[in-house]
Amino acid sequence: MKISSSKSLLALRFLNSEQLLRLINSALELKKSFTENQHPRSLSGQTILNLFFEPSTRTRVSFETAVKRLGGSSVALNLESSSVKKGETLFDTIKNLDAMGFDGIVVRHRHAGVPHFVDNTLGVPVINAGDGFNEHPSQGLLDVFTMIEKQGTVTGKNVLILGDILHSRVARSNIWALKTLGANVFVAGPPTLIPAGIEHMGAIVVPDLAKAIPHMDFINVLRIQYERQDLGYFPTVREYRDRFGLTLDRLQHAKPTVNILHPGPINRGIEIDSDVADGPHNVILDQVANGVIVRMAILQQLLSKGGTA
Ligand code: CP
Repeated sequence: MKISSSKSLLALRFLNSEQLLRLINSALELKKSFTENQHPRSLSGQTILNLFFEPSTRTRVSFETAVKRLGGSSVALNLESSSVKKGETLFDTIKNLDAMGFDGIVVRHRHAGVPHFVDNTLGVPVINAGDGFNEHPSQGLLDVFTMIEKQGTVTGKNVLILGDILHSRVARSNIWALKTLGANVFVAGPPTLIPAGIEHMGAIVVPDLAKAIPHMDFINVLRIQYERQDLGYFPTVREYRDRFGLTLDRLQHAKPTVNILHPGPINRGIEIDSDVADGPHNVILDQVANGVIVRMAILQQLLSKGGTA
């Protein structure tokens, strides 16, 4: 789904470098405007529906904040008290909500493809806020934006994505965008959590984490999903930390300029130690702050009347 030929942002997979850079440059301009206390009101009079069928802290609140900062308003469906609990189908839920006249919809769902279904069913722009193991395009964009902000470019840079790649929509959105922009992308984690065929996405599987770390410009650490631990992907959480956790000891061998990213939520002491997560190389809260800016750029491009699309 190409953002330039579509009303929606469903994935980074099919965006070309020009489309990715247009969004990133638009976010850079917005960040500059807000620093200079200039507040564009490009969503004035528009209302966005937040439809989160899965828990979220960062994505949901940052979309709400982004809409508010652009002069629009948001409404969120509280799933627990909604008629979904009475068995209303997804189709009927979205058709009924759409009848109320929202200007755009932000959707997160545990099943891959739900945002595409909403996009095909409704006439308004849809933003994928994470669908199953497929993609999390706004997270991928804010990660790349943060990398570019910190080191000027991702082209030719070495980026390691570390952890549970198999279940990670963040990893997939990162890989598609980073490869399109000319980065060298590496993945590491337990072999059971590296999807078969990952090399077809352009990522290189790292067999030895210790040997790879000194060459990396960025390390993006992924959350270990406790809910999947019983499925036997790795023997114990302790062994996971011993083999793949980003510890201070491992980081001592990294470039002095390395930046450490994590999409959150963090499991401190498991995939990343606190002294790394809070240490001088981390840009984790920069990612969160940039998430608002990048989501403003996405909303503005898709929804602004006479906007930038
Ligand atoms: N990174 C991310 O998607 O965080 P949330 O699940 O809190 O939105």
